[in-house]
This record gives sequence, C-alpha cells and structure tokens, in this order.
Amino acid sequence: MRNHLIVWTIVISLTAGFSVMAAKAPPKTVTIKGCQKTKPPVTFNHDAHVKKGKLACKTCHHTGKNESCSAAKCHAGKAEGKKPGCAEMSMTKNPFHITCAGCHKKMSKGPKGCAECHKK
Ligand code: HEC
Ligand code: HEC
Ligand code: HEC
Repeated sequence: MRNHLIVWTIVISLTAGFSVMAAKAPPKTVTIKGCQKTKPPVTFNHDAHVKKGKLACKTCHHTGKNESCSAAKCHAGKAEGKKPGCAEMSMTKNPFHITCAGCHKKMSKGPKGCAECHKK
C-alpha cells in the first residue's frame, strides 16, 4: 500500500514535470505595457515566479494558452461588466491589480506599493 503510494507520487511528479517542459518556455522577463498611459510600465519576471515561487502557468494564464493578458482583447482597455481591464486604476477592476497585487498581499511577498511595480 505504502509502496503504491510512493510509485504514484513519482508518476504524478514526472507527468507534471513533463507537461511543464512540453509548454513553450516563458520569456525570462516581460514588460507589461499594453495599457500603459498614466503609469510607468511594469516588468514581470517569470523565473522569480515559476522557478523560485513554483507557480503553475495557469495561476496567471488561466485560459491555458499562455498568451499575453491583453491578447485577443481579453483584458485590454476598460473593464466590461465583470471582466477586468488593464486600463483601470482600481485595485478590484484591473486584472493585474487583482491577480498580481492580490497574491502579493495574500502571501505577504512581492511588491504591493504602486511605485514598486510601476517603476520609472
Ligand atoms: C503588483 C504590481 C502592481 C501594483 C502593486 C500596482 N499596479 Fe497598477 N498595474 C500593474 C500592471 C501590470 C498594469 C497593466 C499595465 C499595462 O498593461 O500597461 C497596471 C495598470 C495600472 C493602470 C492603468 C494603466 C495606466 O498606465 O494608466 C493604472 C492607472 C495603475 N495601474 C495604477 C496603480 C496605482 C495607483 C497603484 C497603487 C495603488 C498600482 N497601480 C499598483 C501592476 C501593478
Ligand atoms: C505569476 C504569473 C505568471 C505565471 C505563473 C506565468 N506567467 Fe507567463 N506571463 C505572465 C504575464 C503577466 C505575461 C505578460 C502578459 C502581457 O503582456 O499582457 C506573461 C507572458 C508570457 C508569454 C508571452 C506571451 C506573449 O504573447 O507575449 C508566454 C509565452 C508565457 N507567459 C508563458 C508562460 C508559461 C509557459 C508559464 C509556466 C511555465 C508561465 N508563463 C507562467 C504571467 C505569468
Ligand atoms: C500566486 C502568487 C503570485 C502572483 C499571481 C504574482 N506574484 Fe509576483 N511574487 C510572488 C512571490 C511569492 C514573490 C516573491 C518571490 C521571491 O521569493 O523572490 C513575488 C515577487 C514579485 C516581484 C519582485 C521579484 C522580481 O524580481 O520580480 C515582482 C516585481 C512581482 N512579483 C510582480 C508581479 C506581477 C507584475 C504579477 C502579475 C503579472 C505577479 N507578480 C503575480 C507571488 C505572486
């Protein structure tokens, strides 16, 4: 029984490992600037989150397509109804403020202040 559990743990970890490898490797850093207008653009580091923070791609790329957040007009511009938009200043209407700042607050890790993300 115990051995079965160990074997399954190994199988599951290997499968998880392969699916991460099969995914297109994310760029080390990306500059998020699709909605940049009043604030400086934000630099995002994949390594800090994926390698060091051990976060799964779908934590942020929730469509499973690993695409840019404002691609296909998903989160471009103003919020529409319940769909957050990257042009919003509000902490509850901007997808980055909700996801990025929300997790940093929850985990007490990573930047929370405006100027820590929006760096000149
Ligand atoms: C965890 C990082 C993070 C924090 C903290 C944060 N922002 Fe943002 N914010 C972003 C990202 C990413 C975008 C999207 C930028 C883009 O697409 O150009 C954004 C977009 C914006 C926008 C709309 C785009 C623009 O330039 O007009 C405004 C306004 C804004 N933030 C203001 C603020 C203010 C004010 C605070 C502090 C109360 C703040 N942000 C805190 C990451 C952050
Ligand atoms: C903590 C959040 C987060 C995690 C985890 C994450 N990403 Fe990203 N990724 C982003 C953000 C933010 C962008 C820039 C989006 C934008 O500019 O709108 C991005 C951009 C990308 C891009 C470039 C998209 C484009 O069209 O420009 C690829 C490819 C990508 N990520 C793949 C991955 C893969 C594969 C993983 C898992 C191994 C992953 N990401 C994990 C947040 C994340
Ligand atoms: C699910 C949790 C989570 C999400 C979502 C998340 N972060 Fe983080 N972030 C972290 C943690 C944890 C750290 C601290 C990593 C470490 O130990 O260095 C961090 C660190 C950072 C740092 C400082 C380290 C560095 O050099 O990059 C920046 C800047 C940052 N995050 C920006 C963002 C932005 C922008 C987004 C949204 C696109 C985002 N984060 C989404 C958890 C998260």
